[in-house]
Amino acid sequence: MENSLLFTPAKIGPLTLRNRTIRSAAFESMCENNSPTRMLEDYHTSVAAGGIGMTTLAYASVTRNGLSFKRQLWMREEIVPGLRKITDAIHSHGAAASIQIGHCGNMSKKSVAGQLPISACSGLNIYSPTFVRGMKPREIEEIARAFGHAVNLAREAGFDAVEVHAGHGYLLSQFLSPYTNHRKDMYGGSLENRMRFMKMAMNEVMEAARGDMAVLVKTNMRDGFKGGIELDEGMEIAKELERCGAHALVLSGGFVSRAPMYVMRGQMPIKTLTHYMDIPWLKLGVKMAGRMMIPSVPFKECYFLEDALKFRRELKLPLVYVGGIVNRGNIETVLNSGFEFVQMGRALITQPDFVNRMRECDDPSCSSGCEHKNYCIARMYTIDMKCHKDVPDLPDKLRRELDRIK
Ligand SMILES: Cc1cc2nc3c(=O)[nH]c(=O)nc-3n(C[C@H](O)[C@H](O)[C@H](O)COP(=O)(O)O)c2cc1C
Repeated sequence: MENSLLFTPAKIGPLTLRNRTIRSAAFESMCENNSPTRMLEDYHTSVAAGGIGMTTLAYASVTRNGLSFKRQLWMREEIVPGLRKITDAIHSHGAAASIQIGHCGNMSKKSVAGQLPISACSGLNIYSPTFVRGMKPREIEEIARAFGHAVNLAREAGFDAVEVHAGHGYLLSQFLSPYTNHRKDMYGGSLENRMRFMKMAMNEVMEAARGDMAVLVKTNMRDGFKGGIELDEGMEIAKELERCGAHALVLSGGFVSRAPMYVMRGQMPIKTLTHYMDIPWLKLGVKMAGRMMIPSVPFKECYFLEDALKFRRELKLPLVYVGGIVNRGNIETVLNSGFEFVQMGRALITQPDFVNRMRECDDPSCSSGCEHKNYCIARMYTIDMKCHKDVPDLPDKLRRELDRIK
């Protein structure tokens, strides 16, 4: 396509990517014992070989107490050699490697995290029924330092970039959002106070990154429900992240415990979700109240673009667009609107080599084939990542449910 930016290189801080595409952090659930596996390596290698500019390993917890899942990465010295094998494989195909670092906060699971979940405030974890304990100031400082430590481990493992997860209702987001932060001390109340923990973590991250690693931050433009962050506060947070020295922002939205489909849009296939669940009482609860707990939010291509354009106008740093990219035309629209990069999640679950296919198919309608039926999301917390099209022995009841989803 004439004047297309898609296959031109561009920079994120000290890092130059070969093109404008990034595989978004989409939880793989492939990390037995919270450690890298051959399966994780194979998947990211296939995305790298498929032409991506940079691929992102999802959802690595900076401390054990931030883990929600038994197959989730936990950043620690002993996994560095395993991660190194993955970054070597990614680099051998000409792509850059990034890792998302975060902490699940009030959604951490006691049996994996080794303690009660912690968050801005005490409360209940509805996903694995335990109490949640409000964090002491000392713990806030410790977790902020753990973010910096995770960056050093990532460098040792050969990553070119880290992506700090400050959105979607995980720990940093739980401090930012007035919905989950009711603290009365210097970490609660005003937006300035609610941003304090994020700023502490960012200081540690930027110091550890030392100018040779790229730092991206995934942040919410809105939480996606009444009582959460709205656009005005989302914008202030983004500006603060720019002041903190982040090299790029990934603009997202949604809150897993309150507005999960705001992140990804469309309908959650509830039968499919419960089919893969292994906790009987949760399975029953979701069967009965799933529609209410996980309300649909209509899908449209590039669903975050309207909000993201407002951020583009007010910010100078490189911005990464994510949300509802299904074809090449979507990517061209986003890049021509002033965004330096696009991230894709589901498109690359459907077709890990979508980027190479676009190189061969010079047409806006060139599609990844993702039908956003959200099967990949429904199975992600219990079993490894897949598109329904790659599961030939899908039980009939699940196939019928997916067929019904438009
Ligand atoms: C299976 C799956 C797992 C996901 N896990 C994460 C995650 O671990 N961290 C994150 O920031 N976003 C996660 N997401 C959200 C994606 O990164 C992305 O923001 C969202 O899917 C919208 O992009 P898309 O329309 O290209 O899929 C996940 C999405 C999917 C489909």
